[in-house]
Amino acid sequence: MEPFATKVAILAQKLAEILAEKLGHKSSFFQESCLPSTCYLRLNRYPPCPIPSDIYGLMPHTDSDFLTILHQDQVGGLQLVKDGQWIAVKPNPEALVINIGDLFQAWSNDCYKSVKHCAVTHPTKERFSAAYFLCPSYETVIESCSMPSVYRKFSFREYRQKVQEDVQLHGYKVGLSRFLV
Ligand code: OGA
Ligand code: NI
Repeated sequence: MEPFATKVAILAQKLAEILAEKLGHKSSFFQESCLPSTCYLRLNRYPPCPIPSDIYGLMPHTDSDFLTILHQDQVGGLQLVKDGQWIAVKPNPEALVINIGDLFQAWSNDCYKSVKHCAVTHPTKERFSAAYFLCPSYETVIESCSMPSVYRKFSFREYRQKVQEDVQLHGYKVGLSRFLV
């Protein structure tokens, strides 16, 4: 896990930089705000489920980070919304899955979209995945890289608090639309 985390952390930084450069922003923002102590690796285990059509492994959601790098095993189960349809992401042992998170969507002023995804369960097989989350410190302020900005600026702390509040109050994450100007 340690060598994997080290390598994937470097990859996440590179990807964030390239995606920012594509928008014409050469910046050290991600290096300065996303530190080893604020990013994390989540190891997911999905036990077999006899009623997979009724039980999600992970409910539909968007990730609340800048970007996520996911490795899934050969069982499969990751699905995402494309053009309004749920599609399965076929496992590929040679590839990692890169997800844009809410913070990149806000920073890029909607140029990059955080994708809604979920994990479905398998009737007989146990499944594992590893997800690396590129996250800033709680103090980091997320501000759009171009004007006029779609979302008001907010700190990552404020974002996390709002997400938790909404989940407790409504049972789901409202997400970025809370921060529309
Ligand atoms: C996540 C996630 C998907 C998977 O951990 O946020 O979306 O396939 N995981 O485990
Ligand atoms: Ni996710």
